[in-house]
Amino acid sequence: MVETAQEQTVPKHIAIIMDGNGRWAQEKGLPRTAGHKAGGENIRPVLEHAKARGVKYVTLFAFSAENWNRPKPEVKYLLDLFRKYLFGDIKELQKEKVRVSFIGSREKFSSDLVERMREIERETEQYDDFHVVLALSYGGRQDLIEAVKRIALDIREHKYLISAIDEEKINDSLSTHGIPYPDLVIRTSGEQRISNFLLWEMAYAELYFTPIYWPDFNEQDLDIAIEAFGRRNRRFGGLK
Ligand code: FPP
Repeated sequence: MVETAQEQTVPKHIAIIMDGNGRWAQEKGLPRTAGHKAGGENIRPVLEHAKARGVKYVTLFAFSAENWNRPKPEVKYLLDLFRKYLFGDIKELQKEKVRVSFIGSREKFSSDLVERMREIERETEQYDDFHVVLALSYGGRQDLIEAVKRIALDIREHKYLISAIDEEKINDSLSTHGIPYPDLVIRTSGEQRISNFLLWEMAYAELYFTPIYWPDFNEQDLDIAIEAFGRRNRRFGGLK
């Protein structure tokens, strides 16, 4: 059966810009890194709740291509946190048969981390109930640039004609290939920007901004965002 926009009250794919860790910490008189630690700890309960609500895909913006420009100690702290997460906490997700994959450039990560990402993707690829996508060193424009290069190579190798380039070819060339477009994009912390996240993919997504800092964003807040999504009349430019 084809699901109509009105019947779809729970988004199939939620993408989250987890913003406000630094301000959360600073307002408590703590170092910014304490905010990242608390932000990391907030991932699991939010994911579990999304799964319980019937969401199928959650993409988390954990580290942007631009985040490499932050002060070195903060970048190091975040990388250590990812390492701890990928070698430790993520096993809990695996136990619950969650599929995990990564988007973004792997170029700047150390080889053991890249190997671990591949391993996690391999180990979880058979699960199809709930899919978590971690955006690490991700930038929407950078991802589009890489896609253009792949398409150019295919054309140079005469795999298809320029006239065959379409939405599907572009989707297949992005690091989000195989993942449906997000229906709802949530940004915490009060900023109302999309900051180079999933630029192509979020063309028709509903945008939801909340002033709550990411470490404080809880299950109830996710419910409120899902309800707001359900109330919107998604018409995609056509008339119903
Ligand atoms: C934005 O807060 C958040 C980040 C740059 C990183 C997101 C990382 C986490 C939630 C923790 C670790 C993730 C994993 C996968 C273990 P900000 O520092 O920009 O906050 P601010 O805008 O208040 O300064």
